[in-house]
Amino acid sequence: MTEVKVAVLGASGWMGKVHTMAYQTFPHFFGDSGGTARVVALVEANADAAKSLAFRAPGAKILSTWQEAVALPDIDLIDICLPDNLHYEVAKAALLAGKHVYCEKPLADTAAQARELADIASAKGLITRVGHAFPRNPVHDLAKEIIDAGEIGDIKLFKACQHVDMYGDPLAPYMWRANGDLAPTGIIGDTGSHVFSFMEFLVGRVSSLIADNFIVTEKRPVVDGAGFGEDTVLNGDEEWADVTNPDGSNILCRFANGARGLVDFSRVATGRKFMQTYEIYGTKGSLAYTYDEVNRLRFYSNDDKIGRRGYREIDVGPEHETYRAFLPLPNFALGYNESKIIEVAEVVRSIVSNKPMWPTFETGHHICQIVDACMASSAQQRWVDIA
Ligand SMILES: NC(=O)c1ccc[n+]([C@@H]2O[C@H](COP(=O)([O-])OP(=O)(O)OC[C@H]3O[C@@H](n4cnc5c(N)ncnc54)[C@H](O)[C@@H]3O)[C@@H](O)[C@H]2O)c1
Repeated sequence: MTEVKVAVLGASGWMGKVHTMAYQTFPHFFGDSGGTARVVALVEANADAAKSLAFRAPGAKILSTWQEAVALPDIDLIDICLPDNLHYEVAKAALLAGKHVYCEKPLADTAAQARELADIASAKGLITRVGHAFPRNPVHDLAKEIIDAGEIGDIKLFKACQHVDMYGDPLAPYMWRANGDLAPTGIIGDTGSHVFSFMEFLVGRVSSLIADNFIVTEKRPVVDGAGFGEDTVLNGDEEWADVTNPDGSNILCRFANGARGLVDFSRVATGRKFMQTYEIYGTKGSLAYTYDEVNRLRFYSNDDKIGRRGYREIDVGPEHETYRAFLPLPNFALGYNESKIIEVAEVVRSIVSNKPMWPTFETGHHICQIVDACMASSAQQRWVDIA
């Protein structure tokens, strides 16, 4: 059996932890996937945080720079869990070194960079993947099945939102996420790209949009070592850093297939710990989803008898392979980490079979085009076309 040798970059962070876990656990759920994976290197720049890495992947080399990992001859796959601004540079170096690349979203800071990455990968015949794991929850495979079977007819409207309150509190500490140098597109590439991945997966390509991006809190206190969700006790002598990328955006869009979209997302939705919803209205029916009921889809059909019409609640279950891999009964709930395990299993299967699986860097490029268009549209206050 082929063993894919992996280096995880940004290993002590949230995604680094989840990805490392997923390589180790996916065979437990998916059995023989034609191959398995071994994490042979973990890269982390923060020396303190790196101290516990040896427990996470025993035997793996612990490195402090991504260049060392890219240069290792025995690495097949470079897994990028670094802050956004490093994605392009690192992915490019890894592809040029002949490595397959799995990169967290957003793939790059601009669509031009994403295009270049997709082209290099294609020229070199390498497998790529972007970490848009949310649509890999099997409930969205069910939604796609219903759409592809024509059960809701032609899609006319896609409405979606994703809101978090990580920055709802104006005193919440500064992170790299609010720094326009480290995360040039802010919430647009961060949370926005998740919503865009649903648009791409369920509806299709966006052809034009108008966006209104905004910053709610202009400055935030710098607190050493602070991360998400921590109670911050300010001592009064903190430095305050400028928030230099968008906190949120409201978007109208048009899809190439004629559907319309209405989308909003933000990181300043006070009280919304994590809200992710979509509604898809077609000529024969509709679908509705909320992450609060993580494996449940609502489906309305005009084909139902008059007087009996209403939304059916469908709990995705073991009839879907990626659900059955984890649980034998519906409504036991697959969550975020399981979506990442499904994603990692697909990454390994892609490499072993040499068959790309959605979302590759091509999709990453489409999503970066939407992000670019949001930045340009909001700056120029006009509709922007996407080629
Ligand atoms: N797919 C998703 O659902 C999802 C969720 C969260 C984050 N993300 C994406 O994943 C990426 C990482 O986010 P995170 O939440 O894990 O961030 P994080 O801040 O928790 O982790 C980043 C890690 O990278 C390390 N690092 C920074 N610069 C480095 C360098 N030059 N060399 C080596 N290590 C370095 C940091 O010390 C930190 O441990 C981001 O691009 C983010 O947008 C995706």
